[in-house]
Amino acid sequence: MADKNDAWPENAKGKFYVDRTCIACDACCIAAPENFKMNEDDGHAFLAKQPGSGPEEDQCREAMEGCPVEAIGLDGE
Ligand code: F3S
Repeated sequence: MADKNDAWPENAKGKFYVDRTCIACDACCIAAPENFKMNEDDGHAFLAKQPGSGPEEDQCREAMEGCPVEAIGLDGE
C-alpha cells in the first residue's frame, strides 16, 4: 500500500500520488498518460496533474490498481 508520507515531492498536490517504492515499470504512464509522467533522470513516475472528473479519474484508478508494487495512493492531501 502506498504511503503519502513517502510520496515524491514533485507530485501535483491532490489525492493521487506516487511514492518512493515505484520501480519505474511505466504502466501508470501508459494507463493515464495525461496524469502520470516519468522522471527519466531519477527513474520513477510522479503525478504531473491530478485528474479532472470522468475519464481521467477512471484512468488514474486503473493505473493505481495496475501498479505491480502498489506505489500509487489515493489518500493524498
Ligand atoms: Fe511506478 Fe507503479 Fe507507475 S511501479 S511507474 S508507479 S505503475
